[in-house]
Amino acid sequence: VTQPPLDPGLLQLEPGLLWVQHCSDGPIPRASASAVQAYLERELKPWTVDFQRDDLELPAAVRREAARAIGASLEDISLTPNTSSGLVTLAQALDWGAGDEVLAPLGEFPSNAWPWKALEARGVCFREVPLWEGHRAGVGSWDSSAPQVTDDPEGRILAALGPRTRVLALSWVRFQDGLKLDLRRLGEACRAKGVAFVVDGIQGAGCAVPDLSWVDAFATGGHKGLLAPQGLGFLWTAPSFRPRLAPTGSWLSVEQGSDFSRSSTDFDRAWLADGRRLEPGTPDILSCAALVESLRTLNAVGVDSIQAHIRELQVHLLDRLARGAWGAEAARLKALLGADRLGPILAFHHEGRGVQGMLRMLSEATALGIHPSVREGYFRIAFHGWHTSEDADRIADCLEALS
Ligand SMILES: Cc1ncc(COP(=O)(O)O)c(C=O)c1O
Repeated sequence: VTQPPLDPGLLQLEPGLLWVQHCSDGPIPRASASAVQAYLERELKPWTVDFQRDDLELPAAVRREAARAIGASLEDISLTPNTSSGLVTLAQALDWGAGDEVLAPLGEFPSNAWPWKALEARGVCFREVPLWEGHRAGVGSWDSSAPQVTDDPEGRILAALGPRTRVLALSWVRFQDGLKLDLRRLGEACRAKGVAFVVDGIQGAGCAVPDLSWVDAFATGGHKGLLAPQGLGFLWTAPSFRPRLAPTGSWLSVEQGSDFSRSSTDFDRAWLADGRRLEPGTPDILSCAALVESLRTLNAVGVDSIQAHIRELQVHLLDRLARGAWGAEAARLKALLGADRLGPILAFHHEGRGVQGMLRMLSEATALGIHPSVREGYFRIAFHGWHTSEDADRIADCLEALS
């Protein structure tokens, strides 16, 4: 495995502590923490806060770095507090009719279910489609089988698009089983059928570069692979899609909204055409101070090099596990990885160990200084750009010992 692209010294992880759950919460770089502290110092003396620099240029810098991290243009970025609010913005901005349908894979993280389910009062139906034989979610999630390389989840989704489907909404990388869906294949089919294609990107952002060519909207929070604190994320919308969305209606979403040389109460203005059209108002500036540094840290090495590094570590770990008690799971995941069907999460299925067995494994790993996570039947190991092959070896040893 090559040298980690992200210098671990940029973070403040304790020696011996192995954090492999940025899929729950990413560590923030020291630079992000310092930027927040510096900004707070200025807030103690508001006469040192500069409206142009701090309230306008800082958010603009976040949009610019966010666009770089996902290979997009800054005009198409809207700052949002989190993934959910990006998806809620979309759900509320579209023009719905009774009987319209939103299609989603079975077992989406709730941030990509409730914004659509909230439209039920307007006659909109939220329909879920299982992605493979034996796929379960909800109260049955621990009885689910795990996805295999021979499964065709995208094929099942496309076969389920119906005459009333207006939106296909799904996670690029799924939070529990770690499956990465093929945005190009899905998006091309949606475009041909006039279905809007909305992506919850948080489990891939910062660890992989999405192909947005056929996507209409991509929402993410900043607190996982993007290595920022909770509180700020962003929504990307395709320029061809944005005009279909009603503006959010904030004072900064109109032309010259922040130009105080013009009367603020002059309401004879047009909505902005760029991503600010969908922003909720002044963003959380402390979070901007942090997120911009986190994004700069990632962009300095390039998300594509982080993606390549994560993959090397995943192969290394799965090869180490090939002949032991985790051999079957390692083979399943290696096949998925070989077919480019996984994001940064290696999700080991519980294989009959059940909730108690997995939670026991989790607490034993934690006692060894290793911090994975357990969700809906899977033991999740998430590598990032600072992890090393020694880290992967340590996890292999730990998993063998726990099995
Ligand atoms: C797929 C997915 N979407 C969204 C979120 C979080 O949503 P939000 O940014 O609104 O907190 C998570 C967090 O676990 C997630 O796994």
